[in-house]
Amino acid sequence: MYLTKEEERTYDGEYGWANQICMKILVRLGELFNATRLIPISSAHVAGVSYKTLGDAPAEFLQALAKADGKAKVRATLNPQSFDPEYLGRRLPKHIREKQLNILKQFEKMGFTRSLTCTPYYLEKPKRDSHLAWAESSAVVYANSVLGAWTNREGGPSALAAAIIGKTPDYGMHRAENRQSNILVDVKTSLRNEAEFGALGIYLGKILEDKIPIIQGLNDVSEVKLKQLGAALATTGMVNMFYHNTRRERGEIEKIIVEAEDLKRTSEELSTTAEVKPDLVFIGCPHCSLDEIRKIAGLMDDKKVRAGTEFWVCTSCYVKERAEDYVKKIEKSGGCVLTDMCTIVSWTETLGIKTIMTNSAKTAYYAPTLNKAETVFAPLKQCLDTTLEG
Ligand code: F3S
Repeated sequence: MYLTKEEERTYDGEYGWANQICMKILVRLGELFNATRLIPISSAHVAGVSYKTLGDAPAEFLQALAKADGKAKVRATLNPQSFDPEYLGRRLPKHIREKQLNILKQFEKMGFTRSLTCTPYYLEKPKRDSHLAWAESSAVVYANSVLGAWTNREGGPSALAAAIIGKTPDYGMHRAENRQSNILVDVKTSLRNEAEFGALGIYLGKILEDKIPIIQGLNDVSEVKLKQLGAALATTGMVNMFYHNTRRERGEIEKIIVEAEDLKRTSEELSTTAEVKPDLVFIGCPHCSLDEIRKIAGLMDDKKVRAGTEFWVCTSCYVKERAEDYVKKIEKSGGCVLTDMCTIVSWTETLGIKTIMTNSAKTAYYAPTLNKAETVFAPLKQCLDTTLEG
């Protein structure tokens, strides 16, 4: 792999251990995927922020990097942590809080933005055709498919290294020839809501692996529904990008058909119980946009959250600050708008949550394993009908 003189000096350790180790991570990765050079990125987004999934050894590596003066050279944002300090902090043991706060402190020392969200594009939208090094799979698919930016699905360490070097190896989704569609998906049924877009993603992810589909036949498309589709595609497959409702310009490609029955079966499989009174109803995987919070507040209709059920809406601090009136409405009904956290990488078992109802296919897919919870998968409207009384 070709390195500039400056990059070589970094590799040889002239700019300190933190830069050297990060350069070595990127060069190793580049060599593995036959990249010929490094290219500048406009932002990095790091996953692996929650202490629950990170554990102690990676946290020590972060501490060493920060101590050795590692500094982000580009805008660098962070995925959610394991709890919302305001609502859940005091319900968790002190040692968990301390370990988590220490991780955040190291990132902040290195100049990372305390975004703590999986939707960094709501804070600052990357430009079309800009190169990124993002590690959150749902955000990667959204960036490539909806925003028109270019990013591979980074792992935690490579996104971290890219943030500190300000560059990424030029391979995969950074190259135009790898962004061509190579399979056609014909959806033969009308999708009625965001949950069905999620179910489609779960179904297709298993079939497509790392292919790039053109998905035809989608009706009533919105950015929120595409966000659910992309998050779910990346949950069961290695899909990093999709096109929708467009035509392939030339060449024959493989074609698959999706029928109503495929989605019905997938949706049913995402529920592990028919529990009518879940411990938690959760909306916000991926994190909610301002529009979604506005919609939820409207649907609450001044009703009250049922006793014995928690209602969480997850988003970033950035969006919550801009949603003040809607937040008040949701809270008045007994719900919580939580920030900075992801339910899947949170300590729900410690909080006594055994059943989770959600409109997110990604959460429904992971919660039985990662949260040891039963799941009920349903569209937003149905989640609210279950949550509210009066
Ligand atoms: Fe975001 Fe967590 Fe879902 S990081 S995409 S809320 S699993």
